Amino acid sequence: AGVGLGAVGAAGAAFSLLTEGTRSKAAAATDGTLTIPDLLEGTTSDGTTTFTLAAQTGTAEVLSGVTSTTAGYNQSFLGPTLKWTNGDTVLLNITNGLDEDTTVHFHGAHVPAEMDGGPQSAFAAGTAWSPTFTVLDEAKTLWYHPHALGTTAKQATHGLAGMIIVEDDSDTSAALPGDYGVDDIPLIFQCLAVDSAGDIKYDQSGYLSSGLSFPVLVNGENVDDTTLAFAATKTRNRFRALNASPSDIITLQRSDGGTLTQIATDQGYLAEAAEVTTIRLVAGARAEFVMDVTEDVTLQAVITTGWIRGGSGTYDFLTVTAGGTDTPDDLPSTLNTIERYDTSDFTARTITLSNTGATMKINGSAGLTMAGMTMISTTLGAKEIWTITNASQLEHSFHLHDVPYQLVSVNGEKPTGVGLGWYDTYEVVGGGEIVIAMEFTDFADDTYMYMLHCHLLQHEDEGMMASLMVTES
Ligand code: C2O
Ligand code: CU
Repeated sequence: AGVGLGAVGAAGAAFSLLTEGTRSKAAAATDGTLTIPDLLEGTTSDGTTTFTLAAQTGTAEVLSGVTSTTAGYNQSFLGPTLKWTNGDTVLLNITNGLDEDTTVHFHGAHVPAEMDGGPQSAFAAGTAWSPTFTVLDEAKTLWYHPHALGTTAKQATHGLAGMIIVEDDSDTSAALPGDYGVDDIPLIFQCLAVDSAGDIKYDQSGYLSSGLSFPVLVNGENVDDTTLAFAATKTRNRFRALNASPSDIITLQRSDGGTLTQIATDQGYLAEAAEVTTIRLVAGARAEFVMDVTEDVTLQAVITTGWIRGGSGTYDFLTVTAGGTDTPDDLPSTLNTIERYDTSDFTARTITLSNTGATMKINGSAGLTMAGMTMISTTLGAKEIWTITNASQLEHSFHLHDVPYQLVSVNGEKPTGVGLGWYDTYEVVGGGEIVIAMEFTDFADDTYMYMLHCHLLQHEDEGMMASLMVTES
């Protein structure tokens, strides 16, 4: 008992629209339109594209009329969307204006471990960190957030999170909408827990306090009883959904029961577009979908009872009003080539997620320190098949840094449809099991480690994290 499964309050108390305090887009919030995070494309010279990010604190009214202490990158809550291009060299100059250590992790990016922003890359208040690498990822939606030991949930729930759009020159990318904020729309979801004084809760004792409210934010705006508006100017619109919540599961759907055309999972394009009625995102996961909007469409987010939330709820978070007069071409019949792994000669490994009370473990160890956590060692070029077993009755997920994985099975079933895409964060239900396969390519290091963990952020902070060392041989 006491690990957070119990109901801690009722969701859905009435709140008015977030007013944005010191944020830069106050006008957008007050007229009920969807805020589009600023786009940061960087400045290019000598073949390197440089981005400047400042982690800083601020304030925002996450609940109407109540000022919360928040944090963000270059602003007081959330961060700009970064645009990276496949093949480019990027440099990120990041300063820490918080009053404690932080890191910036590029969730889902295939980068050297030293540049990955895991706990070993923590940098102190008042200092800076400047990772640089070549973008090997193809078109996909990634995100960035802190990853210091024990403070990920705190920092991310206070607002330190942003989207990364990776572009490439593939025919598929050329055929899809890609005009940021016009027909290529970010949707960053955060299901938070806040007390009446505005304090954002992020840990066991915080979640068990009474009188909490559970605001749902989309791009930083409260949608508890506001449906944001987006005025489409093109018929075909692409949406990039990121569940940046600490724990809740979000299912996206249309209010009219129609279909969404899903084109990408966490790690890029599906082999072919899938007509789906729902898109289920665990915390940390992303999906992309397109909609040809010829009449107004309302999108809903169904928040499933996560383990900090007392109830579930359905939020009509966005109405897309039709405005395009163009007739889009058919989508390409093939979006991507995904060769399914033949895992018969892959090396097998077992990962067990468990807990003793509020102590969360991987393979029996709570990863509360780098030295104390389970370390998995592999070598460059290894092809592996991992069975991830959830030995608890709690909801967990499994996130692997460095390389994408394919699903071999989910609770004993072979994947179909969107399950055939590439993932980096996937649900592992209580008592359930997923089998995944991956190949460790490109980056070896005998000092810096990648991480693997549950992406329910409190579980990660409570120890459900292990390290991965990829060496030359
Ligand atoms: Cu999004 Cu290791 O995390
Ligand atoms: Cu978990």
